[in-house]
Amino acid sequence: MSQNPRHYTALDQLVEQFDNGLRTLFGRPAITERSNPASAVPETELTESERELAGRLMRINHAGEVSAQGLYQGQALTARLPEVRQKMERAAQEENDHLDWCETRIRELGTHKSLLNPVWYAGSVAIGALAGLIGDKWSLGFVAETEHQVVRHLDSHLAQVASHDEKTRSILEQMKKDEAQHATTALHAGGANLPAPVQAIMQLTSKIMTKTTYWL
Ligand SMILES: [Fe+2]
Ligand SMILES: [Fe+2]
Repeated sequence: MSQNPRHYTALDQLVEQFDNGLRTLFGRPAITERSNPASAVPETELTESERELAGRLMRINHAGEVSAQGLYQGQALTARLPEVRQKMERAAQEENDHLDWCETRIRELGTHKSLLNPVWYAGSVAIGALAGLIGDKWSLGFVAETEHQVVRHLDSHLAQVASHDEKTRSILEQMKKDEAQHATTALHAGGANLPAPVQAIMQLTSKIMTKTTYWL
């Protein structure tokens, strides 16, 4: 009996989506071979307010990484070209590293992940899938613009986190490098520059998200 090649149906994809979503939100998603940049850095003494601020900012970053996962998953669902999926796969895996590093730091700082993560994830899958439907060029452009905005966020967080909080800073620095690389990868894979109004809407959305996640 010959073996049938596996064909992925819409239902298979849906099940995989659901599984990815649960892992992202509640489990341990597959990470890369890289180690947490903060694990080799000694803990420094932080004042109560320094610790609280760092915790809130890391919660925002973690929620951003949850959204990044949603975006990549949504995009993979509707991307037309298989090479687009392949090229962005490593980036998506690196977002899992970020997710993991942020979560560890959140715990060390004594706070919690955002309660709204399921909302951010679901919204991002929808946006990613929609962008993928419009076309690979636009969904990759969307990824590139998102990453550029994340780099700017990370810069502002680096400016706010205590200068001696080396553990938090080492994570933010590595994430910043990775996100800039992801943007370049997406542009090289054929991403288009998004029209200014779309960029503005994205900025507004992320503002609402960061303001809410700061508290929740
Ligand atoms: Fe990331
Ligand atoms: Fe990224």
